[in-house]
Amino acid sequence: MANPPPKSFIKAATLFLSLFLFSPPSVAVDFLTASQNLTGAATLVSEKGFFELGFFSPRNSTNVYLGIWYKIIPIRTIVWVANRENPIVDSSAAVLKINTTTNVLVLLQDNAVVWLANTSKSVEIPKLQLLDNGNLVLKDAKSEVISWQSFDYPTDTLLPGMKLGWDFENGIQRRLSAWKSSDDPSPGSLTMEMMNTNYPEPAMWNGSKEFMRSGPWNGLQFSAKPTSALPILVYSYVNNKSELSYSYELINSSLIGRMVLNQTLTRREAWIWSDSEKNWKLYATMPRDYCDTYGLCGAFGSCNIELTPACQCLQGFHPKVPEKWNLMDYADGCVRNKPLNCSSTDKLGFAQIPGLKLPDTQLTWVNESMSLNECRDKCLRNCSCVAFANTDIRGSGSGCAIWLGDLIDIKVVRRGGQDLYVRMLASELETKKKTSSVVVGVIIGATVLVIAGLVLIGFYIIRSKRRSLEGMGKDLGQQEDLELPFLDLATISNATDNFASYNKLGEGGFGAVFRGRLADGQEIAVKRLSSYSRQGTEEFKNEVILIAKLQHRNLVKLLGCCIEGEEKMLIYEYMPNNSLDSFIFDNDRKKLLDWSKRFNIICGVARGILYLHQDSRLRIIHRDLKASNVLLDIDMNPKISDFGMARTFGGDQTEGNTRRVVGTYGYMAPEYAIDGQFSIKSDVFSFGILLLEIVSGKKNRGIFRPNQALNLIGHAWKLWNEGKPLELVDASMGESYALSEVLRCIHVSLLCLQQHPEDRPTMSNVVLMLSSESTLAQPKQPGFYMETGPVEAYSHSSKNESSTNELTITLMEAR
Ligand SMILES: *[C@@H]1O[C@H](CO)[C@@H](O)[C@H](O)[C@H]1NC(C)=O
Ligand SMILES: *[C@@H]1O[C@H](CO)[C@@H](O)[C@H](O)[C@H]1NC(C)=O
Ligand SMILES: *[C@@H]1O[C@H](CO)[C@@H](O)[C@H](O)[C@H]1NC(C)=O
Ligand SMILES: *[C@@H]1O[C@H](CO)[C@@H](O)[C@H](O)[C@H]1NC(C)=O
Ligand SMILES: *[C@@H]1O[C@H](CO)[C@@H](O)[C@H](O)[C@H]1NC(C)=O
Ligand SMILES: *[C@@H]1O[C@H](CO)[C@@H](O)[C@H](O)[C@H]1NC(C)=O
Ligand SMILES: *[C@@H]1O[C@H](CO)[C@@H](O)[C@H](O)[C@H]1NC(C)=O
Ligand SMILES: *[C@@H]1O[C@H](CO)[C@@H](O)[C@H](O)[C@H]1NC(C)=O
Ligand SMILES: *[C@@H]1O[C@H](CO)[C@@H](O)[C@H](O)[C@H]1NC(C)=O
Ligand SMILES: *[C@@H]1O[C@H](CO)[C@@H](O)[C@H](O)[C@H]1NC(C)=O
Ligand SMILES: *[C@@H]1O[C@H](CO)[C@@H](O)[C@H](O)[C@H]1NC(C)=O
Repeated sequence: MANPPPKSFIKAATLFLSLFLFSPPSVAVDFLTASQNLTGAATLVSEKGFFELGFFSPRNSTNVYLGIWYKIIPIRTIVWVANRENPIVDSSAAVLKINTTTNVLVLLQDNAVVWLANTSKSVEIPKLQLLDNGNLVLKDAKSEVISWQSFDYPTDTLLPGMKLGWDFENGIQRRLSAWKSSDDPSPGSLTMEMMNTNYPEPAMWNGSKEFMRSGPWNGLQFSAKPTSALPILVYSYVNNKSELSYSYELINSSLIGRMVLNQTLTRREAWIWSDSEKNWKLYATMPRDYCDTYGLCGAFGSCNIELTPACQCLQGFHPKVPEKWNLMDYADGCVRNKPLNCSSTDKLGFAQIPGLKLPDTQLTWVNESMSLNECRDKCLRNCSCVAFANTDIRGSGSGCAIWLGDLIDIKVVRRGGQDLYVRMLASELETKKKTSSVVVGVIIGATVLVIAGLVLIGFYIIRSKRRSLEGMGKDLGQQEDLELPFLDLATISNATDNFASYNKLGEGGFGAVFRGRLADGQEIAVKRLSSYSRQGTEEFKNEVILIAKLQHRNLVKLLGCCIEGEEKMLIYEYMPNNSLDSFIFDNDRKKLLDWSKRFNIICGVARGILYLHQDSRLRIIHRDLKASNVLLDIDMNPKISDFGMARTFGGDQTEGNTRRVVGTYGYMAPEYAIDGQFSIKSDVFSFGILLLEIVSGKKNRGIFRPNQALNLIGHAWKLWNEGKPLELVDASMGESYALSEVLRCIHVSLLCLQQHPEDRPTMSNVVLMLSSESTLAQPKQPGFYMETGPVEAYSHSSKNESSTNELTITLMEAR
């Protein structure tokens, strides 16, 4: 039996262990009093352990700073820095303590003050405490009166509940400034503050240059913010004698979120912590898009990201220097078509322009209790008044703001914004009305021709300029609005009654679609994707975020997505009128679509495809255009759905040959169906079919009917050559159609259906042809009209003839 080691040895070993094997113990305290101090690795922890205050060094730096970070998050995320401009170089000499004479919080290095919590309020028994919302407070232990708090001196991060703006009583302005870089917390040039003007608004500045405005508060939110279908945070705004500020809270208070200025990318980012992925997720950025660039379109110009070019003059205005404007240099802005003259007796009126981020508010006057009518009178009576608006849009609106100078930095806000009333000569308003009712026919034709010419000429002139702008667009692309909520499966399951069959709207190419209703009453359409995507979750998410950026009034809006386990779902806005095929192929419902509605649908679909092909940055080829993928909103406006799905599922090519053919027989271009060759021209072919179907109210029976005399294409081609194309027109429209428009549509469709892709027009040509009176080329023989031919190679697929052209082909190895 071995002797136990002597006691002295154990003592020595324990000492040794505690001295050398264990790192110096890091003390965590709940509060700090005047007799205590904080040094080395010791930290001050908030009550429930959410946050921690201590010394840190940025990743790539040896400088030491006093800061606050999340204790409950494994990734060190600094939310506040005390001595951001005075780093400590010798960490062993750093001490945080309360000066016992002055009762002020000081940070010392070798007993020299590096930073102090300056306050005019004194305390008797000081106590330093970190709260669970991240606020470091110095207060009186007895009276609990706060003499200093870190929330009054934000750095680059706005935490929930933290206020940005002015505390007039204590003379404090709370503003954010970005870290210079991720290694250097000292203030960079990017700042954000509340502008203390008559009509306050938050704004971001890059140095001394205004960079982006949020627009003034409109009772619900800041005017530049689109209304979010599924908001995850709420803002509150205070504007009174003692305070001018805003703050935000997360609707689900168990989420962890922060807003931070990023100098490198010159933007404000909103991040949400994902517990499952143990990482921060980008939720939204500001600026949201290129149109947020301060003053991009100059005075009296308005920016609409959905238009090309994005800058347009307000109604009644024209570019001041057209040559520069046409070259996309908008700095000079716009001027009135007819100058206003207060002393003249001309009648004055106001043009009501809806859906705007209100212009820069520096030169404004506000009365919160005036009505819109009083506001109008006020504006009319004051010669310098250029425009007016309600300050509060809740209910029927209230309050009055008037603008006394040039209108700068107006943006068209999709799903949001408010009305602005711009002063102009009554004659300017009236001319517009007269034009549209009397001389419309004469003018439109001529104008369209001129515009078409200008567009073509302009296109070539600005092409090179545009290239460089596109490069810029790429950088800016990262700053786009990412407010794409990721919903959990439970929410979706609830909304759709657990994907009940009575909620099923249909089965599309990439999965089933369900109707649903969220807890707040909003109706949604949920696309539950089949699980054949070979993509990983992360890739899929990135793709969805890209697709969510495709925004156009003729595209269905993606509201969010859900990814859990094997489940991948896309959440879209709900379209009450279902899809186009449920009208044009239904003997009763087709009567609801007269020619003007059909023509509107044709033009809308064309513009939507044009946007996908050309105007969006992603240059999407849809690959599955068909009547059932054209949805109709309450006003029968068409919205294309399933765009970007081929991109997501069908591989990464944008043009060329694919192993996986995605599409629907009956709509597929021959080169695509046979060789898997796809291009924007195969979409044009599908559009041609759609056009014929809308005009005729008949389905193209596809290519699988060897016994059928002629399919729709063949039929149309035959009638065209026999000089009686009107026999194609849907009888249910009666005589109530515009002959020239119908003929033009048939003509354009045949041009789209030509056998060789290079003969087919591009979508921009299609849009021009549909809207102009220009002479059209004679179509050559269409693809796929024959009874026999290469098409028979595919007849093996036609087991069930009547349904084959419904069948969406998603997996097919091209030979
Ligand atoms: C910090 O506090 C410890 C004891 O709590 C004390 O020994 C030390 O001298 C203090 N350091 C400074 C710099 O005040
Ligand atoms: C750290 O600094 C070095 C030298 O300044 C630099 O080369 C390196 O890229 C930096 N690393 C990070 C992660 O910033
Ligand atoms: C407290 O601050 C005063 C004024 O700055 C200074 O004179 C004094 O030495 C400080 N006391 C201690 C204990 O650090
Ligand atoms: C502290 O604040 C006062 C005014 O409240 C100011 O005069 C003084 O310069 C400030 N001191 C420091 C070190 O910031
Ligand atoms: C911010 O300002 C700096 C210096 O004036 C400039 O170089 C930079 O391009 C600006 N950034 C943006 C995004 O405007
Ligand atoms: C200003 O509003 C804040 C927040 O609603 C309130 O606490 C404060 O008392 C108000 N001050 C005045 C002078 O009305
Ligand atoms: C709030 O978020 C937590 C954590 O993500 C989640 O578990 C909870 O269900 C959410 N609550 C609501 C009401 O959405
Ligand atoms: C800003 O963005 C860059 C690039 O994504 C990132 O590396 C950096 O950490 C960000 N800075 C802050 C303060 O979040
Ligand atoms: C404004 O109208 C008045 C009266 O019609 C006229 O005398 C004056 O010259 C006009 N002023 C301008 C700047 O057009
Ligand atoms: C604001 O408008 C109301 C209602 O017209 C009026 O009673 C009040 O005097 C106005 N206030 C100011 C400061 O003009
Ligand atoms: C117009 O109204 C503003 C704000 O009330 C005022 O400062 C200005 O003097 C007025 N101008 C005229 C010509 O009445």
